[in-house]
Amino acid sequence: MRIFTLALSAWAGAVLAATPPAEDLARLEQEARTISASFGKQLKGVLQATMLAGGPVEAIKVCHTSAPEIAQRLSREQGWTVARTSTRVRNPSNAADEWEQQILQQWQDKIERGAPVGKLEASTVLDRDGEQTFRYMRAIPTGEVCLNCHGSRLSPAVAEQIKLLYPNDAATGFQKGELRGAFSLEKSI
Ligand code: HEC
Repeated sequence: MRIFTLALSAWAGAVLAATPPAEDLARLEQEARTISASFGKQLKGVLQATMLAGGPVEAIKVCHTSAPEIAQRLSREQGWTVARTSTRVRNPSNAADEWEQQILQQWQDKIERGAPVGKLEASTVLDRDGEQTFRYMRAIPTGEVCLNCHGSRLSPAVAEQIKLLYPNDAATGFQKGELRGAFSLEKSI
């Protein structure tokens, strides 16, 4: 009986280790939500300021250096890995991994059935080489201003600048309101 109890508590311990308590997951999700919102706000701020000051060609150059910089700084400050991804990326280092692809596909199906793009989010705990990782994604809709650089009809100057910096760009042809991509955050737990 004693052996049985011991075995049972070891088993319960293993299960607990595999799945963090619900309140921990809720806290992590809230933290990820806040960081994504801050990431989005900072990117929009830089984009709007540079579009106004120098126009879209200048803004591409700024986006090229600032977007990864903001992501890296937030990652350092917050203890999370903060990034953006999409099914069609401009920067190849933003390419979606397996879990991200799967969520983006699920969202696309939900959107086709009428779900509002801006509200979609997802989270999970995945095992990565024996280390548990909390992952979070939040959808990014395509707004009007985004069409300057991600739409179907780019100005020749914009198209040329994008080709120069991103020869393998796949992030054009989006329509207003469509799913453009996602904020993607992760943290070891
Ligand atoms: C001035 C041009 C410009 C505008 C306007 C613009 N983007 Fe981008 N976008 C870029 C560039 C350049 C990158 C690549 C940044 C990098 O190297 O990480 C990018 C990358 C992205 C990515 C990361 C995935 C990828 O394709 O690499 C997302 C998501 C994204 N943009 C969404 C948006 C949204 C949403 C808007 C509108 C609110 C927007 N963009 C407006 C130029 C632009």
